[in-house]
Amino acid sequence: MKIYENYSLLRHNTFRLDVKTRWFVEYESESDLQKLLQDEYFFSQTFWHIGQGSNLLFLNDFGGIIVHSGIKGVETMREDKQHLWLKVGAAEDWDGFVAYCVEQGWGGLENLSLIPGEVGSSAVQNIGAYGVEAAERIEEVHAYSLKTGEKRIFSTDECRYAYRHSIFKEDDHRGLYYITHVVYRLDKRPTYRLDYGNVAAALDSKEINLKNVRATIIAIRRSKLPDPDVEGNAGSFFMNPYLCIAHYESLKKHFPDIPHYPVNDAVIKVPAAWLIEQCGWKGKSWGGAAVSERQPLVLVNRNHATGQEIAELSEKIRQSVKDTFGVELKTEVNFI
Ligand code: EPU
Repeated sequence: MKIYENYSLLRHNTFRLDVKTRWFVEYESESDLQKLLQDEYFFSQTFWHIGQGSNLLFLNDFGGIIVHSGIKGVETMREDKQHLWLKVGAAEDWDGFVAYCVEQGWGGLENLSLIPGEVGSSAVQNIGAYGVEAAERIEEVHAYSLKTGEKRIFSTDECRYAYRHSIFKEDDHRGLYYITHVVYRLDKRPTYRLDYGNVAAALDSKEINLKNVRATIIAIRRSKLPDPDVEGNAGSFFMNPYLCIAHYESLKKHFPDIPHYPVNDAVIKVPAAWLIEQCGWKGKSWGGAAVSERQPLVLVNRNHATGQEIAELSEKIRQSVKDTFGVELKTEVNFI
């Protein structure tokens, strides 16, 4: 177990905020974690578990214990003619894992290339991009309960996955499980999902294979999303809102060009990026924080922003989208 005092979280949050935590604790094995979950001092403090901090906004220094998993490794649990089941350590870098699968010729995760974060967070957040969600490929989530200290294996159904949602984000479970491993199911004979947005067009005349699909997704993401190492950010700051048909129809009367994607017979998804752009926020700044010119769903740390400034900017955007469209944007980013 690694323990650091007064530790900078600069490399542990993709907004690149130079905040400090009183304690930083990294467990490197399940037995380390078991020890931590029996420690009285730990439970007497405020604590928060992070991955790479790609979905977090620290508003201040953290006076308690930031916990991080150091459990790595990719192990084939079983396989049949079509599939492989890989047990992956929660601390594995997400894109490193995707790259490994693509190199091996195993399909299913290539559309999720270049998403920042770690494997453990992928199962909490149900990360998604270009028509694919992690949940489609997750078979089991291995976690320890903070209440009992015992290990529990969640099946996919038990994870209650939905758009950017899982049981691990629900009020009565949030922060109460530490994930050690996620079991992903990959295809030995890949099939491809190229129907989202401009993926097929961007592939152009290239051969459809895992490497080319990954390269194409990476090129699309690089053209649309700012690189956190150049300009700190946490990807989409808000979720795309789901509207009931009646709300959508009433908006369409005033805004005939509103982009929309049916979710089912009763629900329509509209892009938050469009709502934010219509409200005039694209490229605007507030202190050191700014709204990305390329993708207004992304807030960036342009010039030594504080967490407070980013939060204030997000609140102004939320309020103006509410005033203009009557739509309540929900943040995808967690405030700490
Ligand atoms: N749009 C604008 N103005 C812009 C950019 C986009 O109006 O400047 C509108 C357009 O109508 C466009 C629509 O937004 O068609 C959708 O844009 P895009 O396909 O780029 O994706 P998104 O809906 O903004 C979602 C995810 C991303 C994911 C992409 C691709 C959420 C909150 N975001 O963004 O996820 O990469 O689709 O699948 O669901 C993340 O979660 O951090 C993330 C980056």
